[in-house]
This record gives sequence, structure tokens and C-alpha cells, in this order.
Amino acid sequence: MADLYVIAGVPGVGKTTIGSLAARLMRTRFIDLPDFVRSERLYTAYDRSSRSYVVDVRALSAALGSFIREEAKPPILATHIAFKPRGCRVIRVVVLRKNPIALLATLRSRGYPLRKVAANVTAELLDEQYVEFARKFGRPRVAQLDVTHLGRYEAAKRAERILSSGSGGDVVDWFSSLERENKLDKVLSFLSRYG
Ligand SMILES: Nc1ncnc2c1ncn2[C@@H]1O[C@H](COP(=O)(O)OP(=O)(O)O)[C@@H](O)[C@H]1O
Ligand SMILES: [Mg+2]
Repeated sequence: MADLYVIAGVPGVGKTTIGSLAARLMRTRFIDLPDFVRSERLYTAYDRSSRSYVVDVRALSAALGSFIREEAKPPILATHIAFKPRGCRVIRVVVLRKNPIALLATLRSRGYPLRKVAANVTAELLDEQYVEFARKFGRPRVAQLDVTHLGRYEAAKRAERILSSGSGGDVVDWFSSLERENKLDKVLSFLSRYG
């Protein structure tokens, strides 16, 4: 069994940026799922309307499993899909979280179609990534990190601590946070328009 660490979260939270920095701190390899899927052609189709690849998860699990088994040290995998690379053991998962207002701005600036922005903001609001990864890998192995007010280096340091020493993460409740900031209505009206 080969071990690995996972950085999860919806698109736009900072998996690529923070994951690659955390891997440097841990002196290990960083694997970005979208890059791996593209370079190994592990998709079955390209969906133009959502501008995303449809991933062949079985083929991905097999290919990534054999790739990871060649590694000397547990690598860090950034993924928004909760799956287990074949023959590998996920030691710990950190789910990056970002305030829905900030996430909305990031995704809009990426030029995502508004329907796709809304789908990802909804997923963030409803803790979907945390719920999915906790179900797949077990709650004790999964922690959350709110990166909304963290610079990339600070976020990478905290991710590294969570992954390697099992230090605890953050508690996230966007409904309460947004209500306190008087921004819940703003988010919900965006979602009802485009969701
Ligand atoms: N901690 C941070 N502070 C400020 N901007 C960040 C931070 N982390 C990521 N970003 C920016 O946010 C955007 C999304 O980050 P990215 O790493 O591509 O997310 P993901 O891989 O989860 O889709 C990028 O423009 C990136 O430069
Ligand atoms: Mg990325």
C-alpha cells in the first residue's frame, strides 16, 4: 500500500496554489488532478457547456494508483473528486474552504459561465466537498481549512501542519457567517438567478 495526502475543495478555493506550496514545504511531489487527467487522457468527453472534462474515474484510479506506488514519499494530490487511487491509502485530507462571496468573485474573474459559478458556490455553501470526503475516507481523517483571509504562504503552512501532524482544522458554517455579515440574501439571490 502506498500512502498519499489529499487537498480537496471546490474549484477556485486554491488547491493548485496552496497544494503546490505545501508539497514544497513537505519536500514531496504535488499531483494536480486536472493536469494528470489531461496528460494521461483519462477523460471520456469534454463538456463544452460547463467547459470541463468528464473524468473516467476507474481508469483514473488505476493510472494514478500505479503512478503513486512509484513515489518514494507520500505525495499530495489536489482533487475535487472523492476517490481512492488503486492500491493506495489516503492518510489525511484537508478540505480548503472559501467564503462564498469571495469564491463567487474568484470564479467570475476566471470567466466561468454563471451557471457553473452558481453550481460551485452552492456546493461550497452546502459543505458538499467536506461531506463527500468525510463519507469516503472517514470523518477523523478529514479536516477543513478556511483560506478566505489567509495569504498563500500562511495557508500552505497550515495545510502542511494539518496533513503531516494531524493538527485540527477549522469549523465552517457559511450560513451563519453570511448572516452575520448581512450577505446571505445577496448570495441566495445570485443563486436563485443562475442556479
Ligand atoms: N491564499 C490565497 N490568497 C489569495 N489568492 C489566492 C490564494 N490561493 C489561491 N489564490 C488565487 O485564487 C485563484 C484560484 O486558485 P487555484 O489554486 O487555481 O484554485 P483551485 O486549484 O482550487 O481551482 C487563483 O487566481 C489563485 O491565484
Ligand atoms: Mg486547480
